[in-house]
Amino acid sequence: MSDVQKNCPLTSVEAIDTIEEVAGLYPAYRRAHAKGIGFDATFSPNGCAAPYTTAIHLLQQKTSAIVRFSHSTPNPNPIEQLVPVKGMAVQFQLPEGKVTNLTMATIPVFITKTPEDFIQLLQAVKGDKLSFTEKLSTLKNNPNFHAAAKILKNSIPPKSFATGHYYSIHAYYLSNENKQRQAVKFEWEPVDNGKDTSRFTSLSNNGNPMEDELVNRLKNGPIRFNLMIQLAQPGDSINDCTQEWPDNREKLCIGTLSILERRPDNAELHVFDPTVVPDGLQCSDDPVLRFRGAAYAESAKRRHHFVDLMDE
Ligand code: HEM
Repeated sequence: MSDVQKNCPLTSVEAIDTIEEVAGLYPAYRRAHAKGIGFDATFSPNGCAAPYTTAIHLLQQKTSAIVRFSHSTPNPNPIEQLVPVKGMAVQFQLPEGKVTNLTMATIPVFITKTPEDFIQLLQAVKGDKLSFTEKLSTLKNNPNFHAAAKILKNSIPPKSFATGHYYSIHAYYLSNENKQRQAVKFEWEPVDNGKDTSRFTSLSNNGNPMEDELVNRLKNGPIRFNLMIQLAQPGDSINDCTQEWPDNREKLCIGTLSILERRPDNAELHVFDPTVVPDGLQCSDDPVLRFRGAAYAESAKRRHHFVDLMDE
């Protein structure tokens, strides 16, 4: 039995140690989603969230935002088209120097229900000894990993970050001035972003095809995404991030994000912790969501420390 299994509940130090052990150590980079590209953006709410929330960025005029698109692997030099899941992290700049983050991915559900299962899954498939098929059958044969096998089999990554559809996966609660709560999941839906235009000439990790494609697109104007909320109904599973809600749940568009220009700092030092929320928005008790705050802080501590050492 591994140390992680013995010492449940998992700590963020154990989780990040395991990721480094399984994926390799790249000291300066995020321990997941290592390669990415950062932009400045604005978010314009359209008023449709007003009955549900007092969250300021979802109600008032325009908010500045920082956006980072990423490939999910901890490897900072991946073959981009082989990374099955892409990320889109958005940090809304609130008054008084506060922020809130929506950190989403191109899959509608996560691969495990708990952080402990996620780390055990990484351990189960680590190394080169098992073929891809053997890894898939390891996943299929463990009931905790069923969702993972299905997601990996079905996930077709977008060829452009601009045409991806991104999901919060976890539920959050919106709350209004009467303290009424509504469970929702968020999505970023591309607006008229057209076709994938990335040029993948061969299977190689040369260059930055998806990043270059975004920068080229911006020459034709902002890249836009609508922020959607899906509204839960009684009985929908709120805290299990491996479960989708039924297709017929109402979805509302509550505003539009316009990605404007590349950030010179590439958002390298930013931390897009999805548990940082303002008044009017609360995290659900999904154990994966709750764990992400500490895991991101541990990863940021390690990579920021390395950058400080290099600067000395
Ligand atoms: C137990 C589950 C998870 C763990 C342990 C985990 C771990 C991490 C870590 C360590 C980072 C790097 C943080 C940093 O250095 O700033 C990261 C980034 C990221 N994760 Fe997760 N994650 C988990 C679940 C998820 C889920 C469910 C999603 C999608 C909804 C997700 C999407 C992302 C994205 C998009 C980034 C990149 C954020 C950025 O651009 O800075 N992660 N994750």
